[in-house]
Order: sequence, then C-alpha cells, then structure tokens
Amino acid sequence: MPTTDPADLSLEQKAKILTGRDHTTSHPIGEAGIPPIVLVDGPHGVRPPRTAADHLGINESRPATCFPPAVAVGSSWDPDVAVRVGEAVAREARAYGIDVVLGPGVNIKRSPLCGRNFEYYSEDPLLSGVLAAAHVRAMQASGAGASVKHFAANNQEDDRVHVSADVDERTLREIYFPAFERVVTEAKPATVMCSYNRVNGVFAAENPWLLTEVLRDEWGFDGLVVSDWGAVHDRVAALNAGLDLAMPMDWGVGEASVLEAVRSGELDESVIDRSVQRILALAATATGAETGSSGDFDVDAHHALARQLAAECAVLLKNDGGTLPLASTARIAVIGSFATAPRYQGGGSSHINATRTDAALDAIRALASGPDTVRFAQGFTLKGTDEAMRTEAVAAAREADVAVVFAGLAEADESEGYDRETIDLPAAQVEVIRAVAAVARRTVVVLSNGGVVSLEGWHDDVDAILEGWLLGQAGGGALADLLFGVANPSGRLAESIPFRLEDNPSYLNFPGELGHVRYGEGVMVGYRHYASIGLPVRYPFGHGLGYTTFTTAGLEAAPTGDDTAEVAVTVTNTGTRAGKHVVQVYVSTTAGPVRRPARELRAFAKVALEPGESRRVAFALDRRAFAYYDVEHSGWAVAAGEYTVQIADSATDVTAEAVITLPGDTPEARPLTIESSLGEWFAHPVVGPELTTRLSAAAPAPEDEEEAEENARLLRMAAPMPMSQFFLYAPLSDDDREHLLALAHASTSASVSVSASA
Ligand code: BGC
Repeated sequence: MPTTDPADLSLEQKAKILTGRDHTTSHPIGEAGIPPIVLVDGPHGVRPPRTAADHLGINESRPATCFPPAVAVGSSWDPDVAVRVGEAVAREARAYGIDVVLGPGVNIKRSPLCGRNFEYYSEDPLLSGVLAAAHVRAMQASGAGASVKHFAANNQEDDRVHVSADVDERTLREIYFPAFERVVTEAKPATVMCSYNRVNGVFAAENPWLLTEVLRDEWGFDGLVVSDWGAVHDRVAALNAGLDLAMPMDWGVGEASVLEAVRSGELDESVIDRSVQRILALAATATGAETGSSGDFDVDAHHALARQLAAECAVLLKNDGGTLPLASTARIAVIGSFATAPRYQGGGSSHINATRTDAALDAIRALASGPDTVRFAQGFTLKGTDEAMRTEAVAAAREADVAVVFAGLAEADESEGYDRETIDLPAAQVEVIRAVAAVARRTVVVLSNGGVVSLEGWHDDVDAILEGWLLGQAGGGALADLLFGVANPSGRLAESIPFRLEDNPSYLNFPGELGHVRYGEGVMVGYRHYASIGLPVRYPFGHGLGYTTFTTAGLEAAPTGDDTAEVAVTVTNTGTRAGKHVVQVYVSTTAGPVRRPARELRAFAKVALEPGESRRVAFALDRRAFAYYDVEHSGWAVAAGEYTVQIADSATDVTAEAVITLPGDTPEARPLTIESSLGEWFAHPVVGPELTTRLSAAAPAPEDEEEAEENARLLRMAAPMPMSQFFLYAPLSDDDREHLLALAHASTSASVSVSASA
C-alpha cells in the first residue's frame, strides 16, 4: 500500500505531485511507490488515449461504448438510466485501467446557445442533481472515481477561460450550486473539477470561497479538487484556495513556483501537505495499471444496453392522429442524411471513439415487414440541398404511407469551445421538411441535436416530431424501436423549447461583453421565467408524449413538521400499452420577502405501468423544497405561509394541486435603529402602535375624512424616510423621541434567525 502521509515525501516530491505528468495522469513517485492516478474523459463512455492525448478530443482514442450523453439522460428523467450508464462506463474504465472518469457535467443550461449543452442534463438543478448523483454513485460503486464538473457557473463556451460569471449569491445557491451540492453530499465523488471561468471576478481555480468555504466547509467535501485542464493561472493562489491537483502537465512551471513560494515563506508547507495528502489518498486507490491495459469488456452487451437506454431518453413532442407508432407493413420514405450517418454525440473532450454505430435506416429496414416497404432518399447533406435531392425526396414521400425525415445539427454546429449563434435548423433541412410534408400522407420528423433547435417554420406542417437529442452509438436502433412501438417513448423535456431564441431569459446577457457575463435573469432560468411571466413556449420543460395515456388522481399533501411535507398521488395507465409516466411535483408560493418563480420542480418519479395498472406514488419534500436562500443571513429560510403543491405533466400543465400552510422560520423583528425607515418603524409590532399613539396625541385630530386621507397620504410619502429625518419634522417632543428610541432598542436587539443549512 503506497503511503498516504505527506511526511514520507520530500518537499521536491510534494511539489511535483501537485501538477499532472501529462494529459491523463498525475505524477507517480516511483521511489515512494506512488502510482499515477489515471484521469480520462467521459462521462457517457471513456476516452483512453491511444498515443497522443489531448483535452479537446482531437486525437482518436481507444474504442469504447458511446452511451447516451447527458442531454439524453436528462430527458429520461430516470435515475435508473443514469445508474446503468454509470455502471457500464465504470466497467469499461476498469478494463482500460482508468481510475477517474472526468464527469458528469452538472452545469445548468442557462442558454440554449451554450455549445456544450449536450454534456449537461437540464435547465433545472433538481433534475440535474438527481441524475448526476445516481450516475456518480453507480460508477464509483463499480470501481471508477468520478469528477463532477465544472464547478462553477460555467454555462457558456464563449470566452470560457476568462469570462467572469457575475451571479448574485441567491442565484448561485438556488440554481447553479444545488446539482453540485447534491452530488457532493449524496454521492461523495472522488474529485470535483473546477471550471475555467471566473466567478464574480475570481478564477474558480483560485476561489477560496468556492473551493473551500462552500465546497468543503459547508458541503463537507473531503475528496480531491482537480483543475479543469489548464485552468490554473497562479499555482500558489490555487493551492491557497483549496485546489489540489493542477492538470495537465505544465513543464515544471507550477512545481517551481510552489518550491519558490515555500522557500520564501510566502506559502505555508502545511497548505501543500493538505493537498498532497488528498492526492496520496486517491493514488492509494489507483490501479497503477495505466491506459495500456487490455480494454476487454463485453462490446455486444454494452451496445445492446446503449440501445435500450437510448430508447428511454427520446422525447415524443407531437403525434397528431396517432401517426406513430408505424405499422411494420407501412410503406415508409426515409429521408435525410442523419438516417444513414447518425449524429449521436457532441464534439470536444467528451468525444468517444464508438465501438460501432447503428444507422437508423438499417434498423428501420430490420423492423419493417419487407425490404421493399422502405425507400431512402437523401434529401439534403450537411452542406445543403439541391433540386435533384429535393425532387427525389418528394417523389419518395409521395409514394409512401409515411415520410420520416431525419433532421438535426451537424457535429460542427455545436461543440465544446464555442457557442451557437442561432437555434434554427439549417435552412436546407427546413426546406426539405416542408417540401416533403406538402406531398406526404403523413410526415414524421426525427431530430438529432445536442442543444435545442427551433421547430418554427415547419412544426405545423408535420404530424409527429420525435426529439432524439444525441442518443449515443446505438441511437439509430433505439429510434427505430420507438418509431415502430417496440419501445414506448417515455422521455420528457429537460429544457424548454421556446418559440424564439429572444424569449430565453438570458438572451440580453449572453454571452456577455468585455470579459463579463451578467446573470441578469437571476433565478428565473428556463421554465422558471416562462412560467412566471406567462410567456408561451413551443414545448415546456417536462413535456413528452407516449403511445399510452395516464391519469394522476387522489393528490394528498400534508405538512410533516419542521417545514417538510409528504405528497402522494395515484397514477393509472389508462391506455392499451405498457408505458412509463413521469410524475412531476412542483411547489409554488409567494410567501416571503423575495420574488419566487411561479413554480419549481421539487420531486419527480418515473413509474412503469401495465395497461390498466395503478400505483400510489409518495414523495417526501424536505425543507429545501420550500426554502429560498436568504442572502442577508447567509442561510436557507422558509417563510411562513401558504405553499401550493402541484402535480403536473409539464411546467405549464398542472393537473392537480393542494395548498399547505407551513409555520416557517420564527419571524423575529429586524433591528430597528434611528436610520430605519419610518415605514419600518410603523410596521414594527411593538414600536409601531406606540409611534401611532404618540403622533396622534401630538398632532391635532383631522377635521374630516378628506384631511384624514391626506394625512395618511403624507405618511405614505414619508415612509421611506429614515427616522433620523422624520424626527426633524415630526410634532414629537424630546420625551416622545427618547421614549420611542428606548422602546426600539429594547424590543429589537435580536435579529431574524435562519438556519445555515436547510
Ligand atoms: C474540458 C473538461 C475535460 C478536460 C480534460 C477540458 O477542456 O473542459 O471537461 O474534462 O478538458 O480533457
């Protein structure tokens, strides 16, 4: 067993081990028996380097199964899907001697333009956190460490290595932190990866508030903090902030600066010992096998699993007249280059060298009743369309019972490293969809895209839309399974599809300017914004259809003490096929002093039911489900008042609701001082009535109702005035003033109490 005690290493050895050896390994210390830790990208597969490694996925890696990326897993709304991806990825990681798989990414989809949205789960922190925690728990239980990333506020690629994400604390705590917090507290990842960007002006890699106060002191993280690749600018500042391992290699720059800082007394050796100890602890669990190992895993079984899981993720957005599922005997015109050359993952560091890929056309042919029933026309290529291609597509569509157009985005349209500028589908594809829909008896559009694409300009022309996102290497097979009803669609949108990009709340503040991106929309991200201002979207967060129908009934919600509640509802499959329903539980309130979103997802469950089967589904809502982050008191607060628990089919489709009343935190008066406003003095339960009494006694009584109203108006006008000023004008004696100030002092020395954690 290699040492885990920094005291066993020399200062030079310790300085060396704090920075990576190359792109995928930490420094081994042979003399001390310390193996390298092998950290390789994922997380929907592994990317073991062949020879030259890089962190942008430029060089081809050794083959691995490309499972559905996070954008797809997000749409499954099913922690079990995340578990099975996590377990399988760990099996492949072990086969390749990988100790830590870099991921999952739990950054929130703030804007549909973020080039890396395919690597993230959702615009909602609860959905992201629950799925990521399931992935991490399963992957680590199966023998590979995780690196939850990118902490924090890395919600765009544009200028990602410099930009300062300027975000108010409530928004960080309520939207951008909770997924990290859940993974850290529930799944205990081996490592957390800091992001490249600055958070409120300070690089995440050098941010002690982020990496130590929040991550370790508040959430209790005791694993290793690793930098994003090349995110460290000042090795000493990063160590002081709590960043342990700087990746990748830096040709000795970090090592030299650490040695110099310790020798000059600028850096306390205990600080490096703390980080070295964490690196040694992880190295002690490393296999030391490095990436030269066998790579033996069950390729066929993992491909079959990838197909099964992909089918859980696609979202059936529209299905007019029961167009889907297709009869196996239907004459089908398959159109679009994505049917033969599938788009199934995103570009950049998470890019997997898939063991094989399923083309949807082949899978459709395999499920159709005869080879002659399926005809293919390309319609367009990634470069565009022309008349010949369109004519061929239209001819095929005219002869068929149904046309299925495979449209989407090319890999070059979205990637790590840059953001998109539009959410439009390429114009050539829209043209082909419309031309086909104009002649086809029925038209189905199947989409492959990592970030949201607009459905405008063609949505109403087609009968059905299956949003496949990026489904991994077996996505083509899964799409065929869904089209023919071999599998029943059960995905739900993990992000809203707006009518216009401009409707997105981040629109005016994305991707920022002059090195800053201001998160001006605050907590009103995604559906929180649309629902709060009643802005219609094309399809809301949570939306998704299937080939059966469900009802939810018998909602019961009751407080369980300590500002928690239990909720139960009965789900019934009222259709004729087995299927899965996602029960979505939202909480809505106006209680408390801060603006709350119209509703927020607070629990969910995916339930599999046979036709006619019913099940009672229960949820325990914890305190946090009702809390807001109180920045004045640095803690989570529950306001006393009414909370509406809503069961919904999407963020805009509430099917049942129940109101509960919570006692909330004990409201204590804020300290009242001579600088508090007149309004605050009047509002105070003890001092307010006394002030009214003394004022009434001092001033002549109003002669009539009109004068009383005018007096009230004047007081309203003076309400924001500090008491120090009001005293100058008020008809109060010295005795009145002294008495009121003494009363204020005596009755308001305590402040509002809020808990540090909810
Ligand atoms: C990415 C990380 C990735 C790392 C290592 C960086 O460019 O932002 O997500 O894990 O490279 O390849």
